[in-house]
Amino acid sequence: MSADTEKRAAAEASALLVQDGMRVGLGTGSTVAFLLPALAARGLRGLRCVATSVATERRARELGLPVEPFDALERLDIAIDGADQVAPDRWVVKGGGGAHTREKAVAAAADRFVVIVSADKVVDALHPPVPIEVLRFGAAATLHRLPGAVVREGWPPSPDGGIICDLHAPTDDPAALAARLSAATGVVEHGLFPPGLISDVLVARGADVSSL
Ligand code: 5RP
Repeated sequence: MSADTEKRAAAEASALLVQDGMRVGLGTGSTVAFLLPALAARGLRGLRCVATSVATERRARELGLPVEPFDALERLDIAIDGADQVAPDRWVVKGGGGAHTREKAVAAAADRFVVIVSADKVVDALHPPVPIEVLRFGAAATLHRLPGAVVREGWPPSPDGGIICDLHAPTDDPAALAARLSAATGVVEHGLFPPGLISDVLVARGADVSSL
């Protein structure tokens, strides 16, 4: 079974978790690209959606999903997003699409954060790189203090003006690395998502979807 088939299966399963009137955070990437039509097809009433990227916002609107700025909504009922790696202890790496800063902000605002992945995203242990977004101001100095950080070549700045980078550093202790990156001045956000942020991980293996 192809990864795309599995992405679609996980995305369609997650769309069933959304109910009328919910405030919904929409992630970014090719897995979420399957979520958007599945969600639109449900014809739910009174949804209020927030998008984590320009691409998701555009596609959601095309499909008739109501998207609003993430300025006025204090909480979301649910957020659904893909991932690059999911470890058995549910530490997750995100940011392959460079959207992890907005994705984490949306996930943190959600009562329920659901990660949807194809089986190839499940790993025995996290591995580098870990995406990071760095404040443009003083970026050279920030990167100098982060050995192993490289600017992602050819990538535009994030919608918030940050520089998208990848950190090639050991990930065997994700909590310690996450704490170090969170404390690093000039790092806007990193792509390590802790288990405590994640409510459900839906993994598709073939046509079967199960919780990790
Ligand atoms: C974007 C992300 C994506 O969720 C992650 O890269 C997975 O992407 P895809 O669904 O295309 O495999 O974190 O910043």
